[in-house]
Amino acid sequence: MVIIAEETSFDDGELFDLYDSVGWDVWTADLPRLRRALEKSHLVVTARDDTGRLLGLARTVSDDEIVCYVQELLVEQGHHGKGIGRRLLEHLMRRYAHCRYFMLTTDHESTPEGPGSHAFYRRLGMVEHHEQKLSAFGLPVENP
Ligand SMILES: CC(C)(COP(=O)(O)OP(=O)(O)OC[C@H]1O[C@@H](n2cnc3c(N)ncnc32)[C@H](O)[C@@H]1OP(=O)(O)O)[C@@H](O)C(=O)NCCC(=O)NCCS
Repeated sequence: MVIIAEETSFDDGELFDLYDSVGWDVWTADLPRLRRALEKSHLVVTARDDTGRLLGLARTVSDDEIVCYVQELLVEQGHHGKGIGRRLLEHLMRRYAHCRYFMLTTDHESTPEGPGSHAFYRRLGMVEHHEQKLSAFGLPVENP
């Protein structure tokens, strides 16, 4: 059984195991900063098994009125393809259904993880900015 819940405090060890399982080294390199980022997020939704093991999470940055940015969504490597990512994202879509914008930034389709994550987001009904005459801009990121 997978339990979806909104949480506000986090353990560095279980964050390391989850983020490390998908190779997100930039995040695991500074766990206290990652934990603070989660604690300062508008909302963090988690997936746990019935023993309490952390299987996935997603977090948002939002004004809870007009815009919701999904800043991370990840599922432990060994639990991909079991519907956990869908449950996390659908939880956020329902929670922020009143916002005009529900957006996220993810790796380009040409990157190793791109095809999988793009297929996932499309399956959940999302489209790329350029498909609706929008563009996303940002300052250059170190080690994107
Ligand atoms: C992308 C990710 C979050 C998907 O989570 P998941 O739990 O494996 O996905 P789900 O099992 O909920 O899949 C939901 C739907 O997307 C589809 N999907 C998921 N991954 C897919 C892939 N690699 N290729 C094609 N379709 C895919 C599934 O077929 C499923 O369709 P259905 O519900 O209609 O049957 C997960 O693979 C992950 O954590 N990857 C590493 C981190 C990452 O890239 N995060 C996203 C960028 S921020």
